Formats: sequence, structure tokens, C-alpha cells
Amino acid sequence: MPMNSSKKILVTGGAGFLGSHLCERLLQEGHSVICLDNFFTGNKQNILTLLNHPAFTLIEHDVCEPIDADPDLIYNLACPASPIHYQCDPVKTIKTSVHGAINMLELAQKKGAKILQASTSEVYGDPHIHPQPESYWGNVNPIGIRSCYDEGKRCAETLFFDFHRQFGLNIKVARIFNTYGPRMHPNDGRVVSNFIVQALKNEPITIYGEGTQTRSFCYVEDLIEGLIRLMQSPESFTGPVNLGNPVEFQIRELAELVLEITGSRSKLVHHPLPSDDPKQRKPDISLAKSQLGWSPKIPLKEGLRATIHYFDQLLIAH
Ligand SMILES: NC(=O)c1ccc[n+]([C@@H]2O[C@H](COP(=O)([O-])OP(=O)(O)OC[C@H]3O[C@@H](n4cnc5c(N)ncnc54)[C@H](O)[C@@H]3O)[C@@H](O)[C@H]2O)c1
Repeated sequence: MPMNSSKKILVTGGAGFLGSHLCERLLQEGHSVICLDNFFTGNKQNILTLLNHPAFTLIEHDVCEPIDADPDLIYNLACPASPIHYQCDPVKTIKTSVHGAINMLELAQKKGAKILQASTSEVYGDPHIHPQPESYWGNVNPIGIRSCYDEGKRCAETLFFDFHRQFGLNIKVARIFNTYGPRMHPNDGRVVSNFIVQALKNEPITIYGEGTQTRSFCYVEDLIEGLIRLMQSPESFTGPVNLGNPVEFQIRELAELVLEITGSRSKLVHHPLPSDDPKQRKPDISLAKSQLGWSPKIPLKEGLRATIHYFDQLLIAH
């Protein structure tokens, strides 16, 4: 099949934050998109503009159950991604990662499709190595409150590589670091959305601990470009590959930037650090640079402006 020909693409979790941006971009490129979602954290509003697109199909379905479809490519994104959501039913979270991965891998095997897994920087746990290269095996607590997510995603990676080794499946594994942008959930406790919503409402901005823990923030448009490049990479390149922005910010600096852009009157308040909260997280993206020619382009300030605009409109509408 020629590289640029139109493909039938299944996106699980397609009504979520990242999934909806991915569906939009794939449709713009002329592909047909099947969006599969059970709307646990996803939302019809995210895909409202796509619903009437002739090449867009929405299937309300749980990835924990097998499904029959005939895709050329599968992006497996279905999984709640924020602690508030993945901890509210931890057993379901791990089932979504593990049973979901098995169902999608078996579908890919049956249909000869190429499949990409949205894995996460959480597979590195609370890392002892900084920044984290893909060769680092991580420091993960197997029995903590984040484990349903971290270990579920680690197991999904294992399944991807076993299907690759055992059945020759064409796989791609992306380890996604903190991504932000329009269509994030307004109240899922993730730091960027938290700070923006608190600032727009002139409510106190909650910082866990001293705010000296660092994070790197990748704008959604950059991340989607990385996923697409990974999917298009030669079959010999499976990943795992880190996709994220290596520019590091202290949580406190992020809060101050949000205050500056919104012009908010909010004050910073400090709360105790939750258990297992990683102190540092920063991707080493040399592999993505060399193999995919990818690196993030959008500076934090620019991405924050677009995200703040989105939340501003959302708050006005409600
Ligand atoms: N956003 C980030 O910063 C980030 C970082 C690392 C990894 N990821 C991964 O990327 C993927 C998408 O994350 P997101 O930020 O868009 O989160 P999200 O919660 O907005 O999207 C997840 C989507 O999956 C759907 N879903 C959940 N369980 C399902 C199930 N059992 N069956 C079918 N659909 C189901 C949800 O309804 C939602 O639409 C996730 O797999 C997440 O682990 C995201």
C-alpha cells in the first residue's frame, strides 16, 4: 500500500483528550477513522465537530470486550489517564490496560493491522535516573495506589512485545510524558488544568509540597505529530520511544506563569504531597529525534495561552 494512501484507522479512547485530537488530525489527512470509546472519561463534546464527517464512525464500546472491525492501523489510547479517574475503580483500570491491549492485539493479529500503544512515562515510576532514557527499567511500586495504572501500562508493553516476538506483529510503543492542551478535563486533578481553572475562577492555586518537584509539559499538537511519525516509522522500529517535552519546569514556576497569563488574583496555597508522587520527570528524547526526526516545537507559554482560552470558553459556557 503506498505511504500516503487513505487508511482505515481505529482509535480506541478516541473521544478523550488526546484521542479526539488524533481523530481530527487523521481525518484532515484523508483517512477514515473509527473512534471506539466507552465514554468513561471521554466526552461527545470533544468529537462534536467530527460526528457529521463522512469518514468518521463512532462506536460506543468497552475495550475490555473483543470487537470485530477491519482496520489497517490501530492506535490504542483507551485508558483513564489521571489519578482521580484511574484510582476511582482501580480494578477496572488494570483490566482496561491489560484486557484492552489483548483484545486490540488479537484484532491486529487477525486483520494484519499495525498497532500503536499509548504507554506512559509512569512506567518509569519514581525514577532514579534523570532524564529517563527508554533503556531505564524504572522504579515502580507494584502495590501502591498508582500501581493499577503504572503496572497495567507496563503489562500492556509486555504484551505488545510478546505479540511482536511470538507472532511477528508490527507494533509501536510510545511512552507519553505529561501532555496538555484544549480538551483536557477541567477537574481531573492534573496540574495544568487544575492551575488554569483555579486561576480563571480566582480561587487559591493548590501546590502539593513545596512546588519544587519538576515536570515537563508537551503541547498536544506536538504529541500528536510524534504519534503519527511513530506509526509511519519503518517496521524495524518498534520503540518504546519517549514522546514529551524535555524542557523542565518546577510546579511553582508553572503556577506563576498561569497567574501571569490569566492576570488572576489567585494566591498559591500548599498541600501535603500525595503518596508515590514522583519528584522529577523529564524525558530523554534523543531516540525520537534520531529515529522520527521529532522534537516538540510549541513553547509552554504559547501552549498555555491556547489552553487557557479553551478553559475560559468552557467556564463561560457552563
Ligand atoms: N495526557 C497525558 O498527559 C498522557 C500521558 C501519558 C500517557 N497518556 C495515555 O494516553 C491515552 C489517552 O490519554 P488522555 O489524556 O487522552 O486521557 P482521557 O481520559 O481523556 O482519554 C482516555 C479515553 O479512553 C476512554 N476509555 C477509558 N476506558 C475505556 C474502556 N474500558 N473502553 C473504551 N474506552 C475507554 C475514555 O472514555 C477516554 O475517552 C491513555 O492511554 C493515557 O494513559 C496520556
